[in-house]
Amino acid sequence: MNEHKKNIVLGIESSCDDTAAAVMIGDKILSNVTASQSIHEKYGGVVPELASRAHQQQIVPVVDAALKEAGVKPKDVSAIAYTRGPGLLGSLLVGSSFAKSMAQSLGIPAVPIHHMKAHVLAHFIEDANDSPPPFPFICLTVSGGHTQILRVDTPTEFIILGETKDDAAGEAFDKAAKMLGLPYPGGPEIDRLAQNGNRTFHSFTKPVVDGLNFSFSGLKTNILNYLEKNKRRNENFIQENLEDICASIQHTIIEMLIERLKQASDQEGIKHVALAGGVSANSGLRNVLQNLATEQGWSTYIPPLKYCTDNGAMIAMAGVIALENGELGSLDMAATARWKMD
Ligand code: KG4
Ligand code: ZN
Repeated sequence: MNEHKKNIVLGIESSCDDTAAAVMIGDKILSNVTASQSIHEKYGGVVPELASRAHQQQIVPVVDAALKEAGVKPKDVSAIAYTRGPGLLGSLLVGSSFAKSMAQSLGIPAVPIHHMKAHVLAHFIEDANDSPPPFPFICLTVSGGHTQILRVDTPTEFIILGETKDDAAGEAFDKAAKMLGLPYPGGPEIDRLAQNGNRTFHSFTKPVVDGLNFSFSGLKTNILNYLEKNKRRNENFIQENLEDICASIQHTIIEMLIERLKQASDQEGIKHVALAGGVSANSGLRNVLQNLATEQGWSTYIPPLKYCTDNGAMIAMAGVIALENGELGSLDMAATARWKMD
């Protein structure tokens, strides 16, 4: 990345419910600002119309804060990278329109970025890992919207080895948490409660899915039936066993993810294994992966939390890489809710 050391890239992320902006020079982060939207908490999930309205209110102050914190003036920015998709269209439109207008007014490129690729490319931020994963590596990308196992051959070549057929892993955490009466987003809540629970308290059935794919929607029904059945016997069942239920649910989700990761590593003969996306913040998943690394002889790569959940830094990093590869995009590229990776 040496030839772009002097390039200053502003990264803007607005695909879901975080308005985020970051400034980087080369592979170094100068600022990384995120405004999360608490408005969705009372609805137990992201409400798209409210998300896009909140992005409209936050985009200017967030970008302004990122530039100020970095000590960078708009005229010094070389390119603006923005999330083009996939995500919620109304949310994407706010960030992409803002990025394109600002880029046009400054006479610099507006670089469209694929959100899921950016989660993976966050590994190449200077302080994300002791050393970045060498190519090819396997990456499990787990977030509120996606669950994928990728083989990453180069910074621009991603092969999808498997993905979810229905819900994402983060969605499974969030929906389970909602059934347990926990606030949104439920993943961190389940993680916290599971730490004092017994993961063998209940064994949830895991679905049979082909290849390296996943399915989480059956687990949701399974959990609902289990809770309903036990609540009929004891109305305080959830309150009395909350930590154990959380530990059992988390254990099931982790087992489903890890099983596939092992299969993918064996199939591809690759021992460099990385995590990306919001669910990689899960302490249980991180622990299991570390233990497995010793057992399987894997080198593992898990970025710090600030680069796992949605953030502007990963978009800026992807922008730096896109610039290196001459992938500048054009102003007529529209935001897109669905955008294939390959
Ligand atoms: O990557 P991300 O910030 O946004 C999307 O692109 O979706 O991921 C958000 C997801 C949510 O489903 C949230 O519950 C989950 O990541 N999450 C966690 C944890 N922290 C965030 N899931 C399990 N354990 C956590 N500690
Ligand atoms: Zn994400």
